[in-house]
Amino acid sequence: MQFPALSDLRKKARKRIPHFAFEYLDSGTGRELQVHRNRAALDDVLFIPNILKGTIDPDWTTSIMGQTFDVPFGIAPLGMSGVMWPGAERILAKAAARHNLPYCLSTVATKIPEDVGPHAQGNGWFQLYCPKDEEIRRDMLRRVKASGFTKLILTVDVPDDSRRERQRRANLSLPPKITARTIWEIMTHPRWAIGTLFEGPPRLRLAESYLDKAKSRSSLAHAGHLIRGAPDWDILNWLRDEWKGDLIVKGVSNPENVAPLKAAGVDGIWVSNHTGRQFEAGPATITQLPHIRSEAGSKMPIIFDSGVIGGLDIMRALALGADFVMMGRAWHYAVAAFADKGVDHLVHILKDDMRLNMAQIGAANLSDLPNCVIKPS
Ligand SMILES: Cc1cc2nc3c(=O)[nH]c(=O)nc-3n(C[C@H](O)[C@H](O)[C@H](O)COP(=O)(O)O)c2cc1C
Repeated sequence: MQFPALSDLRKKARKRIPHFAFEYLDSGTGRELQVHRNRAALDDVLFIPNILKGTIDPDWTTSIMGQTFDVPFGIAPLGMSGVMWPGAERILAKAAARHNLPYCLSTVATKIPEDVGPHAQGNGWFQLYCPKDEEIRRDMLRRVKASGFTKLILTVDVPDDSRRERQRRANLSLPPKITARTIWEIMTHPRWAIGTLFEGPPRLRLAESYLDKAKSRSSLAHAGHLIRGAPDWDILNWLRDEWKGDLIVKGVSNPENVAPLKAAGVDGIWVSNHTGRQFEAGPATITQLPHIRSEAGSKMPIIFDSGVIGGLDIMRALALGADFVMMGRAWHYAVAAFADKGVDHLVHILKDDMRLNMAQIGAANLSDLPNCVIKPS
């Protein structure tokens, strides 16, 4: 009752973690116009209530690309989750198994795939920032598959760094700079500090595991450089040949990219603008979604994210053409607030919010949502 909305979990998280960790999680780039645009556009999606529908108790079961989940939402990949809360990747993977929803591990997580995959019990997906070195790339795919991850997600909306001024002001850097301010922030958040001591300092452990190999081939000294390959269509084609499972491309917001993606043989399209962390002058993802759906046709699986904060937003995305909805920051506010109990509470909030809002508009099932939404002109 004290934490009825995601905003309450966010407030709690802000108190429990150091300022640099919160700023890393919470910030967009530039003046954060994209973050606000995502929000405003979601708010603009309205439904027309249908009356006299009796009791509404929808079944949330949703199948996507051969997997059936208990809910139509899941956990998007976040780099350095362990900065937000020690052991966050493990907590989220276990929650994914417990609630039967997907958890996508990032290439730049603080844990390696081998330490996370088994906890997700088949519900783990893996997000790839593509290393330039082909041999490292191939080995990563091998390890990911052996660790039980079933789908590969290639992120394409990070062609380079972005400035993220709030992070800079908070003095967040990799490797971390130890300053008097950082030490003070850590000391004043003892639970986070003790947890971090126990889990080990947050590091790019997957990339680090290739450092020696890379050093012997090139002068790259820092793990971050290993995964800083700006992907192109050749890389996508290479991946399509190499990865035999489902391949999803994440970070699509231009409908004109859909036909070439289909031609390249991808299995799913993930509509996202990285929740405004990369570029602030693009359109909101929700306004792009119907155009992308119409280009993709009815059969292509479409996943949606960027700015979802509750069950109503999930309904909005499903109504406008998404098959599945992912959230990134939300789960991390929840974990930072209350660890695994925070995740359970967020699942409850999302389901309850969806159920009650669907009752208001007389939608008995998720498949009714497109009939209730006011289609944008
Ligand atoms: C702190 C942070 C780190 C992220 N790291 C990654 C990443 O490593 N790989 C990736 O594909 N997306 C990354 N994303 C983007 C998310 O996967 C997702 O697209 C976005 O967070 C969804 O929006 P939401 O947070 O508003 O739900 C990151 C997002 C945040 C907030």
